[in-house]
Amino acid sequence: TEIRPVKDATPVKTLPDAQTVTEVTHWTDRLFSFRVTRPASLRFRSGEFVMIGLLKDDGKPLLRAYSIASPSWDDELEFYSIKVQDGPLTSRLQHIQPGDQIILRPKPVGTLVHDALLPGNRLWLFSTGTGIAPFASLIRDPQTYEDYDKVILTHTCRDVAELEYGRKLVENVRNDELLRELIGDGLDKLVYYPTTTREESPKMGRITALLSDGTLFKDLGVDDFGAENDRAMVCGSMGLNTDIKVILEGFGLREGANSEPAEYVVEKAFVG
Ligand code: A2P
Repeated sequence: TEIRPVKDATPVKTLPDAQTVTEVTHWTDRLFSFRVTRPASLRFRSGEFVMIGLLKDDGKPLLRAYSIASPSWDDELEFYSIKVQDGPLTSRLQHIQPGDQIILRPKPVGTLVHDALLPGNRLWLFSTGTGIAPFASLIRDPQTYEDYDKVILTHTCRDVAELEYGRKLVENVRNDELLRELIGDGLDKLVYYPTTTREESPKMGRITALLSDGTLFKDLGVDDFGAENDRAMVCGSMGLNTDIKVILEGFGLREGANSEPAEYVVEKAFVG
């Protein structure tokens, strides 16, 4: 038999992994969230991220890392994003509407997962801006409340309007029939600690400052923060991540990874 070269075969154009937008919410002129259909085969661990994006004019995909904000039991996927007016992706992504398609590569990865932490009693979730997204997934995951006695979510934004996504999220968790049972009747298993830095609000200041000067612990009645009981996940700006690492290490916590679980894990929030 003759084997013919395939040199003039046209290359197969790989179709992007398209998903359909089902809902878009604009929180401020800098922030929006959206929901898309979930590929039937996609399994992920709460806290992980995927690459999502749009096709460029030249037909090539433009992708960025986005934390999945929805819990793994949800039949849709939710994302929370900033809008950067001259950002290559978000300048266009902010205009998506229900019915539009986006590209979603179904390969979830990330370090903000339960598996990267050793067992502990208290779980601290420190976030700024859109860094709350992976924690939006984790605080809707029943395992979070099965693994820990107390879950503390801190969220720091410039102004009060930027806290709204998180405020609503926590309200929905507390009103959810199933999660409510896990959080307890007093709803005290989930503590929400929002702060602002550029607008007056009940609690002001960077979380790093509130940690360093003891305000956070005083407010929550914690006097034994340390490597024995406490586990932390951090997601925010480069500045937050760098500064809080120093503080956590000062308390004796060590950075963990999927391959080597320890007391805290860090991931950079998507920044446009
Ligand atoms: P600040 O207003 O003092 O810069 P952004 O919207 O720029 O992503 O910032 C989100 C929040 O993160 C803001 O409240 C900002 O405070 C805070 N932030 C920025 N850098 C740090 C840092 N190094 N440590 C702690 N918080 C920070």
